[in-house]
Amino acid sequence: MREIPYGRQHITEDDIRAVADVLRSDFLTQGPAVVEFEKKFGEYIGSPFNAAVSNGTAALHLAVMALGLPPNKRVLTTPITFAASANCVSFVGGEIELIDIDPRTFIIDLNRVEDRVRKGDIGGIIPVDFAGLAVNMEDVREIADRHGCWVLEDACHAPGGFFIDSKEKQVNCGSGVYEDAAIFSFHPVKHIAAGEGGMVTSSNAELLGKVEKLRTHGIHKNADQFMNEGTMVGASPSNSDEYPAWYYEMDELGYNYRMTDIQSALALSQLQKAESGITRRRALADRYIQAFSDNPNVKVQSLNERERKGHAYHLFVIRAQNRLGLYTHLRSKGIFAQVHYIPLHYLPYYKHLGSKTDLSNAEVYYDHCLSLPMFPSLSDEEQEYVIESVNFFYP
Ligand SMILES: Cc1ncc(COP(=O)(O)O)c(C=O)c1O
Repeated sequence: MREIPYGRQHITEDDIRAVADVLRSDFLTQGPAVVEFEKKFGEYIGSPFNAAVSNGTAALHLAVMALGLPPNKRVLTTPITFAASANCVSFVGGEIELIDIDPRTFIIDLNRVEDRVRKGDIGGIIPVDFAGLAVNMEDVREIADRHGCWVLEDACHAPGGFFIDSKEKQVNCGSGVYEDAAIFSFHPVKHIAAGEGGMVTSSNAELLGKVEKLRTHGIHKNADQFMNEGTMVGASPSNSDEYPAWYYEMDELGYNYRMTDIQSALALSQLQKAESGITRRRALADRYIQAFSDNPNVKVQSLNERERKGHAYHLFVIRAQNRLGLYTHLRSKGIFAQVHYIPLHYLPYYKHLGSKTDLSNAEVYYDHCLSLPMFPSLSDEEQEYVIESVNFFYP
């Protein structure tokens, strides 16, 4: 049997053709495919304004820059996430603080968020839709509004995920209904693979405008906002409002965080399979849940029906007795399970965050967590093989 990773991209002939078409076109970067991908992704998620960037980390960085962080204000996130969810705050010289997870759902505990925000000096909250389970952004918004902070949803795991709000409406992850901005990644193990790629989404046009400028060095060509006199930069002396076509200004320090047309063509083609991919992921999750229901050594995320329905299942995480033993056993069977994540305060760079607050739920979770193979092209036979291999490990 072939090796089975925990996640894998699914590339079809259509995807390959879409990329080849771009390679034969006039644009390799910043052409029509980027604009088209922003539009189509926005339609899929339901977010009005969308800026494609080079990866999810760049998306986080630019979103934090655009949202702004007043001096002496800190930002809250979960310890069970990829380092980038915290790094984006460190990039701008801000301080991150960790809030423990809910042991039932493995996502950030909003009661603890509220307790911490109430004590003061919190400028922003970065909730992470860990594994694909939507954080209730309506609840986060309420907390944030009571205490004047922004909300940046890290939805890297959850394109296509949703929760149901108090008006009984389905709210898609990253749709901008409650959060100020959200970000996504198009890394190959994610739902939509672009090689590398990311997106910032928002319902705030001004905020997205800032992101667009920052992703391209802080340069813009908007004559209304030019600071130099036209005559100074080669415009007709008779009319200083007319700037020459070559002219642009840079009025703040930005980056080259652009997504290319090559990546966008792949992402656009992948987007067409996003819904069927999620349907397959949910079916695989149902099978795992049923298969481990009688195994006292394996616990799954304990979710109600609504939570399960809106889950995007980027990962299928179990909490296993003798995790290391199971991990090693699975590897010997060609099954490459993975650990998501080493808690951020166990990473030497963020070690100091561990002494600030009680993170014991995250620590207990980490001792037992294991992500089993979860990707749309995982066949029924392969999944049965994974299930048997897990169940047979325990006497
Ligand atoms: C939760 C989370 N946030 C941010 C990122 C960063 O995305 P990228 O790898 O595209 O920079 C990832 C990717 O692994 C992630 O899983």
